[in-house]
Amino acid sequence: MYEDAALFSPSDPMPARTPIPLIGLGTWDLRGRTCARMVEAAIRLGYRHIDTAEMYDNEREVGEGLRASGAKREEVFVTTKIWPSHFAARDLERAVKDSLSRLRLSQIDLLLLHWPNPQIPLSETLAALCEVKRMGLGRNIGVSNFTVALIEHAVKLAQEPLVCNQIEMHPFLDQSKAVAACRRHDMTVVAYSPIARGGVKGNAVLAHIGKAHGKTAAQVSLRYLVQQDIAVIPRTSRAERLAENLAIFDFELSAAEMKEIAALASRSGRLVDFAYSGSPQWD
Ligand SMILES: NC(=O)c1ccc[n+]([C@@H]2O[C@H](COP(=O)([O-])OP(=O)(O)OC[C@H]3O[C@@H](n4cnc5c(N)ncnc54)[C@H](OP(=O)(O)O)[C@@H]3O)[C@@H](O)[C@H]2O)c1
Repeated sequence: MYEDAALFSPSDPMPARTPIPLIGLGTWDLRGRTCARMVEAAIRLGYRHIDTAEMYDNEREVGEGLRASGAKREEVFVTTKIWPSHFAARDLERAVKDSLSRLRLSQIDLLLLHWPNPQIPLSETLAALCEVKRMGLGRNIGVSNFTVALIEHAVKLAQEPLVCNQIEMHPFLDQSKAVAACRRHDMTVVAYSPIARGGVKGNAVLAHIGKAHGKTAAQVSLRYLVQQDIAVIPRTSRAERLAENLAIFDFELSAAEMKEIAALASRSGRLVDFAYSGSPQWD
């Protein structure tokens, strides 16, 4: 029962750290009935991780999909993100409670700061984020779009473990510095836009490697990431692609194939450069 607070009451014994399932459904741009249907279908197919955000304006429909799937609450890992306009201490708790009420959940598995906001001191935002975790509103907390410098700063300030940095990551973007920083601090990297917003489809190297395994370029791109213990949250609005994107655990890329794919990456491969208040100085 999703609305049964007892399942996830703050007094429940909780593991210090919850593993983040390696594959999840991204929901940016999924709206209304399509969103609810895709979330339901994904969970029925075996997805155990759903990624949403206050800014996506679909938390209500994500919640509907969760309930329609029939899965037990504890079986599905739900991430949402707090928008930077709510990073002041007085706003953050309200924003998280609003997300919970739209999702109709009593607790979120992972609460992320969506984008850095240089207009509000990080110390203030992290103190508020740690407090909502201690209140039991989020089981885990983390960040998104944080550079190496921001990760180092955040880790020093946070009084609770930051378990994740969600960043743009796919074969065309070199994120080695951010990934190394996350590993130093035991943070899971969650890759957004993991199939380069569909752009991997036309890549000859990925298609060629895929052919050898009976897989598509998109599957090779996702496998390349999960094989490095990077979680992926591909988004699709098509039911048949839900299954395609999930079928990445029955083959393995060789060391030579991993190297060939790594050679596609560059610092200029970034697709998402939105910034709430000035772009971060990307690594
Ligand atoms: N933290 C952040 O700031 C941030 C930023 C961006 C995204 N995200 C999260 O990450 C998720 C994924 O990123 P994304 O939506 O930017 O990009 P993505 O998942 O890399 O790509 C989505 C696009 O690829 C297409 N697609 C899906 N599966 C495919 C397949 N097997 N073969 C070919 N094309 C395929 C989809 O079209 P169809 O719908 O037609 O299948 C869609 O146009 C988002 O939905 C969101 O949850 C987070």
